[in-house]
Amino acid sequence: MTRGNSTINIGLMGLGTVGGGVAASLLDNAEAIKQKTGRMVRLKRALVRDLSRPRDPSLPTELLTTNPEDILSDPDLDIVVEMMGGDSPAGEYLERAIAAGKHVVTANKEVMSRRGPSLLALAQERRVNLLFEASAGGGIPIVGCLMSQLLANDISSIRSIINGTTNYILTRMAREQTPFADALAEAQAHGYAEADPTNDIEGIDAAYKLSVLGSLAFHRPIPHHLVYTEGISRLAPEDFRYAAELGYAIKSLAIAVAEPDGAVRARVHPALVPDNHLLANVDGVYNAIEVTGDLCGQIILHGQGAGRDATTSAVMGDVLGIVRALANSDGPPPLPDTPGMAQDGGLDVLAHPIDELSSAYYMRLTCADQAGVLAQIAQILGDGNISIATVIQKDTDPGSGTAQLVITTYPSREADVQSALRAVSELGVVVSVNNLIRIEE
Ligand code: NAP
Ligand code: HSE
Repeated sequence: MTRGNSTINIGLMGLGTVGGGVAASLLDNAEAIKQKTGRMVRLKRALVRDLSRPRDPSLPTELLTTNPEDILSDPDLDIVVEMMGGDSPAGEYLERAIAAGKHVVTANKEVMSRRGPSLLALAQERRVNLLFEASAGGGIPIVGCLMSQLLANDISSIRSIINGTTNYILTRMAREQTPFADALAEAQAHGYAEADPTNDIEGIDAAYKLSVLGSLAFHRPIPHHLVYTEGISRLAPEDFRYAAELGYAIKSLAIAVAEPDGAVRARVHPALVPDNHLLANVDGVYNAIEVTGDLCGQIILHGQGAGRDATTSAVMGDVLGIVRALANSDGPPPLPDTPGMAQDGGLDVLAHPIDELSSAYYMRLTCADQAGVLAQIAQILGDGNISIATVIQKDTDPGSGTAQLVITTYPSREADVQSALRAVSELGVVVSVNNLIRIEE
């Protein structure tokens, strides 16, 4: 390990979209980093899977290795930066690096969600830093904010857009009527999507991130599998049109709310958001996180949630923080300051089932275009305690004799709505129940 004024050696695991940005920043800005932190840094090794993949030509090829031992067993490395993604082997590599006394930085929300508490406990034991700012919100400094600047607050809710790929797709579909598959391909080409974009589209990536942010905000582990998750693949172009007519945008929201009984309900799903709400106006790859605390009130952090440069900003912030701590201290660097994630327990106090949610709803149905249809549907909804707010009939098709019916409701219990919709779908006059989307007022 480096002591005194000597250079800080860094090993990088992963050299893709984000790792490539981190490598460029370390190689191009060594002098500026020294001025900011007091120490020189050196990128000593970079782990990749495939040596034959084209890389940035300015990257010295001798840095590259496909052998993880060149990093994990190198006693000269001070910091290991993990930018590979996925739970395994990244999680095991992080564990080994920490156990070997290296400081580590990761952008890996899956690992932090699944293994955060145990990795942080190990980091405490080994007296090294484990920093993970880029694991949620891309370039938005929300992790550090929850860990320190907002720590004095009793936080009651997080409402957020925390997947750049999804928000990019939804924005393109709403604004330019871009087909889903084309918008996804664009997001992938920009480097926003996960290696398996299913994680983005199905809300899994956002669930990992909400698990990380929620754990920090509510000071208890929020396992990702207890986050209710719904993807965006059911959304159709007409949903965006009808929502706009009703004064809403459609966004994929990640929400965690502390309920009055102390439990936390965490969910990721598409939602109608009123046009005049800030979250409705977060477009493209941008993310936003609204935090409500007893002291700070409502805060919204907004910025690019994915992409090479924005994410590099977050990763390099963590790296420079460690370098500065090493430069300023003869003793051990500060221990990780991670209230919430590092604590164990509290697993019993979690996530109500979505059935108990009270929400307003948007529903779109294809029905026979004939008299009395609405009355039959209204009867079922009324019997289920669901109060209708608006009804509009759209897109009548004389050929098939059908029309689209768009109904919004006042806040109702999710289980009641689901059960009423099952009954509605069995009516002979209803061709299909096309979509049910929650409305976040
Ligand atoms: P990526 O472009 O797919 O890059 C992954 C890199 O890791 C590649 O260089 C790959 O090697 C290497 N790698 C993967 N598995 C490996 C293995 N088993 N052994 C050795 N090398 C391996 O991924 P990314 O988009 O940069 O994302 C990296 C991490 O940052 C992920 O945790 C992601 O969730 C997180 N993140 C990404 C973004 C973003 O905008 N992309 C934003 C925030 C956080 P090859 O190059 O040889 O294939
Ligand atoms: N795939 C992720 C997203 C990368 O689109 O938000 C940032 O974590």
